[in-house]
Amino acid sequence: MQDFLEIIRTRRSIRRYEPRAVPRELIDRLLDAAIRAPSAHNRQPWRFVVIESDATKRQLAEAMGEQLRRDLAADGAPPDFIERDAGRSHARITSAPLLILICATTSDMDYYPDEQRRSNEALMAAQSTAMAGQNLLLAAHALGLGACWLCAPLFCPAVVRETLALPDDWQPQGLITIGYAAEEKEKTRYPIETRVLVR
Ligand SMILES: Cc1cc2nc3c(=O)[nH]c(=O)nc-3n(C[C@H](O)[C@H](O)[C@H](O)COP(=O)(O)O)c2cc1C
Repeated sequence: MQDFLEIIRTRRSIRRYEPRAVPRELIDRLLDAAIRAPSAHNRQPWRFVVIESDATKRQLAEAMGEQLRRDLAADGAPPDFIERDAGRSHARITSAPLLILICATTSDMDYYPDEQRRSNEALMAAQSTAMAGQNLLLAAHALGLGACWLCAPLFCPAVVRETLALPDDWQPQGLITIGYAAEEKEKTRYPIETRVLVR
């Protein structure tokens, strides 16, 4: 148990990786850890896309980058800022040895006639999928890998779906970059008493 808590305590978002590939056996173990997460109604609304090919990483990075440039230009961002941001995003995606895109689907969730309950079901699908993502991040750390959740796909779901030829109901939630860490990270947390009420 102490080891497990230590894994939780020492996990960090790792954004720089050694170039070596992640062995297939470890990819399978990451996915197996992910699907052990709890899910609403046990519907297991998570879906995963494993991306190891450099060509696919480049295609995805370029398509997402185009959308990012369009969005930032529409915001009125200066051109040099747009290029820096898009360049950083491209490098982050293409330099990771392994990408796992995490998607959620509401296809198997309960259906209600009213918007409030429909949106609750959609939220539960996203919550369940995030739990699978956290399992995956912790498993990566336990297996000696580094990983980081990138939110970018949430901002360009149609582009991601089209580039990777995903089913229509797969809603991209996060792109996890994974590899052997080439950096060490420290992160602090706000004191627990600033985040907890006891009643
Ligand atoms: C939903 C979510 C979205 C995130 N998106 C990004 C991102 O787009 N880029 C990035 O570098 N890190 C991203 N992160 C990682 C956070 O920056 C990181 O978890 C936070 O700074 C705490 O650091 P730690 O994970 O090392 O404890 C994201 C994390 C979560 C949970």
